[in-house]
Amino acid sequence: MEFGYGQIGGMTLVMLSCCWAALAKEECPQAIFAFGASMSDTGNSEAAFPYQSVAQSNPPYGNTFFGRPANRFSDGRVVLDFFAQALKIPLLSPYLQSVGYDFSHGANFAFAGVTTQNITYPATVTAPFYYWVQTKQFQLFKERTLALWTIASSRKGAQRSYVKLLTKPKHFQTALYFTTFGANDFIVPLFRLGLSIQQVQSNVSIISNAMVQNTEELYNQGARTLMVFNVPPLGCYPAFLASPRIRNMSTVDPHGCLATVNEAVETTNSLIRSGLKDLRSKHPDATIIYADLYTILKDLIVNGTSYGFKETFKACCGAGGGAYNLNPNVSCGLSALVNGQLIQGTSCSDPGSYVNWDGVHVTDAAASFIARAVLQGKHTEPVYKLTELCRLSFEQFSPSPP
Ligand SMILES: *[C@@H]1O[C@H](CO)[C@@H](O)[C@H](O)[C@H]1NC(C)=O
Ligand SMILES: *[C@@H]1O[C@H](CO)[C@@H](O)[C@H](O)[C@H]1NC(C)=O
Ligand SMILES: *[C@@H]1O[C@H](CO)[C@@H](O)[C@H](O)[C@H]1NC(C)=O
Ligand SMILES: *[C@@H]1O[C@H](CO)[C@@H](O)[C@H](O)[C@H]1NC(C)=O
Ligand SMILES: *[C@@H]1O[C@H](CO)[C@@H](O)[C@H](O)[C@H]1NC(C)=O
Repeated sequence: MEFGYGQIGGMTLVMLSCCWAALAKEECPQAIFAFGASMSDTGNSEAAFPYQSVAQSNPPYGNTFFGRPANRFSDGRVVLDFFAQALKIPLLSPYLQSVGYDFSHGANFAFAGVTTQNITYPATVTAPFYYWVQTKQFQLFKERTLALWTIASSRKGAQRSYVKLLTKPKHFQTALYFTTFGANDFIVPLFRLGLSIQQVQSNVSIISNAMVQNTEELYNQGARTLMVFNVPPLGCYPAFLASPRIRNMSTVDPHGCLATVNEAVETTNSLIRSGLKDLRSKHPDATIIYADLYTILKDLIVNGTSYGFKETFKACCGAGGGAYNLNPNVSCGLSALVNGQLIQGTSCSDPGSYVNWDGVHVTDAAASFIARAVLQGKHTEPVYKLTELCRLSFEQFSPSPP
């Protein structure tokens, strides 16, 4: 259904309003509003701090799909991009992008490096665009958009051509609200503030409370279909495994993941899960989906070969080889002097067979795998199958597993 605002015929309008309440939960979303950190950032950090947020603006970031750096922390697309492609809507513009934006099918507020919790760290640690700030940006975005529609409806012709780039008012209710937070609530204290896993573990309810509270804030602003991704299995990530300090604080499980790290993540996730359950009974008019990224990704990392992936523990882009192809001193896309030698963080030759891209982010191929699983309702609670609600396109996805 691609009606412009004000172009809906009388009959359609009657039909829509009669069935609106009953169908509200069953509708295929035609817009996405995304919130989160680097897992979903499609350019906000680059727009806010141009030429300063380094690695993702350099090759080989973006090479696989875009053929150039695309302000994403991936060799290609992030999970959010696959959702947009499946729904056949444009890739989401970052909210902060002032040139060449297209908000006709939603907007993206995700900002690399930020936490779920309300904390302002020094700029050298992370930017102050944490979850609560993103909900306020969304509030402003929605208010301004609706105000512009009111102005536009009293004008004609060229004067209203800009509305093509605005989110349609009805999409605010039917959109999918897509949230991916939590990893930085571990990464910032562990890697930047020098805290221990035990210290983070003792406070994980702060993370889950913030996740649930902000989900409810989006509900209060009119969101009715909310998909909340949980925290990924950070203990299986190369950056964690290759850090002598983090490794030393943890035990290693039989699969080769850091058990202590994953236990802290699992505790957080079970609190998020039960918090969302409470939210569901409090707001029965909303569809609040818990998307179990942890389980999907851990399965992919542990059982990767049966899904057609060759390397599931090694970073594709990095330096140093070894068990994780990760030298903590040399990031993907950058170079550094190591023992007087200039070492570069470069891409492996076949990113399509790797799960991990740069130590803390997944590859285009793994993002495709995750998106496909979630769109099919695998590991979502309640079961929510966009494959049944929508006519999705998987044409641009990576080949499905054998
Ligand atoms: C845990 O949270 C409390 C309350 O916010 C805070 O005062 C304390 O510093 C936190 N501890 C750690 C280890 O983060
Ligand atoms: C974050 O800060 C805002 C503004 O002070 C406050 O309204 C909100 O409740 C806080 N959220 C959390 C999770 O602490
Ligand atoms: C590992 O932890 C132990 C005990 O906390 C400490 O004595 C040791 O120096 C640590 N090793 C490294 C490489 O950090
Ligand atoms: C790996 O695959 C096996 C067999 O399908 C499954 O039982 C197991 O749960 C999977 N491991 C993980 C960590 O998901
Ligand atoms: C990284 O840099 C530190 C400090 O210069 C050094 O001690 C360490 O050996 C380096 N690690 C690797 C893997 O090169």
